[in-house]
Amino acid sequence: MLVEKNVPLQPFNTLHVVAKALSLIRIRCEADVRSAVAATAGGLLPAFILGGGSNIVLTGDVKVPVLKVEIMGRRLLQETSKAVIVEAGAGENWSDFVTWTLQQGCPGLENLALIPGTVGAAPVQNIGAYGVELQDRFDSLDAIDLRTGDLLTLDAAQCGFGYRDSVFKHVSAMGLAGRVLITRVRFCLPKPWVAVLGYADLERKLAVSGDGAPSAWQIHEWICEIRRAKLPDPAVLGNAGSFFKNPTVTSEQCADIIARDPGIVHYPLVDGSCKLAAGWLIDACGWRGKTVGQAGVYEKQALVLVNRGGATGGELMTLARAIQTSVYERFGIMLEPEPVVV
Ligand code: EPU
Repeated sequence: MLVEKNVPLQPFNTLHVVAKALSLIRIRCEADVRSAVAATAGGLLPAFILGGGSNIVLTGDVKVPVLKVEIMGRRLLQETSKAVIVEAGAGENWSDFVTWTLQQGCPGLENLALIPGTVGAAPVQNIGAYGVELQDRFDSLDAIDLRTGDLLTLDAAQCGFGYRDSVFKHVSAMGLAGRVLITRVRFCLPKPWVAVLGYADLERKLAVSGDGAPSAWQIHEWICEIRRAKLPDPAVLGNAGSFFKNPTVTSEQCADIIARDPGIVHYPLVDGSCKLAAGWLIDACGWRGKTVGQAGVYEKQALVLVNRGGATGGELMTLARAIQTSVYERFGIMLEPEPVVV
């Protein structure tokens, strides 16, 4: 086990914020976690687990040990008449894994193409896009307890998935945030494959193409086109995807807001409540394209905050708070950040 000291974290976070890890341990297999746990009296806690760094805001140097997950490997585990089970190491790049499943003839993850980050980080925030959430295709995952070194296998119920949420984000008694390191994730891809095309952006692609029965590869291509058109490429412009969750309000609150702002983009949910498009709320407050210091609001999608070059985590959080305040003052809704603030 190699412990590196004073490691720059700028290359390892997609917002490109400058910060360093006072100590960093690369985790390439399960045994690396166990030896790190064994080397520390009372276990490896607290520690910070780093995947692709695509959903974090670093507000300073990280003083606890950083465990950089680099566990690789992809395989088809099992095929039945009902589903294919595929597995990937937590350090695999998510988008490359999605492409690989299609190359293996196993569709089902195509709507989640091009989401930045690693396979191990995907269950933490239950990634979702264009009508599919990770939990819809999840089978189980392996994780290691950072106090004892024990291996755990968790099913979907044990992961406690919610909208951009899971047990891995919570520090309460039942929460596992920072307490376990996810090593491998298994997905269940149902057979026969059924295309998910209900999302407005995809319906538009479908209408334009005139293709009545698009293949999974075709949907993958459309998703990549849609994302590239409205989300910045972190390699070019630092960002962490959506910076806020889409808030849920009661039907009464929603009716009240619609009465005042008939144009508001909203989605009724089965329980009578409503999800509102946070990007629309931020846009309506005039933030799209604005820049404060080196932190900015992306021109094509107000839900995305960007680093225009040299922004600190503090600067990004100052902008985030200013946005929260103006949305709250106009709509009475407090937006909740989506990335983990470190
Ligand atoms: N809108 C505006 N102005 C803006 C941005 C959006 O009016 O500046 C409107 C759009 O016109 C649209 C609505 O708001 O009618 C929703 O926008 P969009 O379709 O872009 O989706 P979103 O709700 O902003 C969510 C996810 C994305 C995911 C897309 C597609 C969250 C927080 N974000 O964005 O996830 O890719 O749907 O499914 O749920 C991410 O989590 O990092 C992420 C990118």
